[in-house]
Amino acid sequence: LVLIKNSFSFLHDQALDSNLSNLIKRNNELESLMGKLIQTCQHVEVNASRQEGKLLEECDMLIEIIQQRKQIIGSKIKEGKVSRRLRKLAQQITNCKQCIERSTALISQADQTLKETDHARFLQTTFKLQFEKKNMKIYIREELCTASYDTITAHWTSDDEFTVVSYELQYAIFTGHANIASLCNSLESWMIVPNIKQNHYTVHGLQSGTKYIFVVKAINQAGSRTSEPGTLKTNSQPFKLDPKTAHKKLKVSHDNLTVERDETTSKKGHSQERFSSQSSYGVVGNVYIDSGRHYWEALIGGSTWYAVGIAYKSAPKHEWIGKNSASWVLCRCNNSWVVRHNSKELAIEPSPHLRRIGVLLDYDAGYVSFYDAVGSQHLHTFNVSFIQPVCPVFNVWNKCLTILTGLPIPDHLEAVEPHS
Ligand SMILES: *[C@@H]1O[C@H](CO)[C@@H](O)[C@H](O)[C@H]1NC(C)=O
Ligand SMILES: *[C@@H]1O[C@H](CO)[C@@H](O)[C@H](O)[C@H]1NC(C)=O
Ligand SMILES: *[C@@H]1O[C@H](CO)[C@@H](O)[C@H](O)[C@H]1NC(C)=O
Ligand SMILES: *[C@@H]1O[C@H](CO)[C@@H](O)[C@H](O)[C@H]1NC(C)=O
Ligand SMILES: *[C@@H]1O[C@H](CO)[C@@H](O)[C@H](O)[C@H]1NC(C)=O
Repeated sequence: LVLIKNSFSFLHDQALDSNLSNLIKRNNELESLMGKLIQTCQHVEVNASRQEGKLLEECDMLIEIIQQRKQIIGSKIKEGKVSRRLRKLAQQITNCKQCIERSTALISQADQTLKETDHARFLQTTFKLQFEKKNMKIYIREELCTASYDTITAHWTSDDEFTVVSYELQYAIFTGHANIASLCNSLESWMIVPNIKQNHYTVHGLQSGTKYIFVVKAINQAGSRTSEPGTLKTNSQPFKLDPKTAHKKLKVSHDNLTVERDETTSKKGHSQERFSSQSSYGVVGNVYIDSGRHYWEALIGGSTWYAVGIAYKSAPKHEWIGKNSASWVLCRCNNSWVVRHNSKELAIEPSPHLRRIGVLLDYDAGYVSFYDAVGSQHLHTFNVSFIQPVCPVFNVWNKCLTILTGLPIPDHLEAVEPHS
């Protein structure tokens, strides 16, 4: 028994021994693996910092290249400008020389005529003098003109700037119905800015979203010359969303241009201004419209439940939009589109991919129209005799929409009769 026990104990020791050496072997393997890993880590770090260095170096090189290019382009532009100016000056000098030659000839002719007592010949000479100077032409440079919602800067050029003493700018509202000729004859509707010394002028205090007709008159010693009329239009008055009016379940972006359905419960306070209905999730634009023409667009950001339109400033904020007599809207409810006012709904059939809704409001003429701004398809017009100031209004029940404002009224909307 002892022998058996001893031999077992021996076997046992041997097993432990081999287990132990196994463990030591594994341990050594692990340690060397760890060493390798640490080394790799260091390599990676070194490589990363080397790459970073290289990247920075390349960035510096790029910046240097860009700066060199900038210098080259800058000097090229300067050269271009200078040579263009030189060419213009040379042209003007030639013109001037011709003028002087002509004047000298005319003066000596006049001198001679004065000496003679022939009255008829004197008159003829004077007429010739005026006639020659009248050959000058003047153009409104529409590509240089700029506009905001209440100003237009008009630029013009004339063939013969040398002899011009001053310009006179005339402008009037251009409705498109009156023809230009009859408008030009009805002097009382024109505004006149006399005595302009440079070849551009900024007119302030214009109506937003309105087309104007401009004419420039160049005046020199010999008389005056009028340009062809040019038409220019002001943009619509720009506006943003007023986050103070947004329903609790809506989130307005930092730039106040996008409104999104907000599922998180929030701490927005209650106020009179805020939309507060259980179901009408609205926000209004921060603009007060009581005259003029206005155009804006709503870009639909994946929303399938929304309403876009206008409401009286005083319209109750707790009611559904379009369900009272103080609001006019176009709505999408999942797969159906309607226009709604005073709870009366009318189905419309826009493209199912309607993505940009154009709203044209003419307060004075009394209508608000909705368009597919991409396909420029007319969707609906409400005739309204407005009796109170109105503001744009937007509702979203899912996803978001973004507003686009300060746009000029698109040409194709000017061309069509709003009621047809
Ligand atoms: C330890 O030794 C016993 C007997 O030789 C063997 O069965 C077992 O698998 C060993 N264990 C390890 C971890 O090597
Ligand atoms: C470090 O970069 C060299 C070449 O630049 C490459 O051969 C080596 O594999 C890289 N090492 C690691 C750990 O990325
Ligand atoms: C957004 O509207 C709020 C409240 O009227 C205003 O304080 C903020 O300046 C506006 N932000 C921008 C970018 O217009
Ligand atoms: C919305 O339209 C989709 C697709 O036609 C339909 O599956 C879904 O049931 C509609 N949802 C509601 C609330 O009517
Ligand atoms: C709007 O008024 C015009 C007449 O000025 C009329 O022809 C048109 O049918 C009206 N539109 C609607 C929708 O009532």
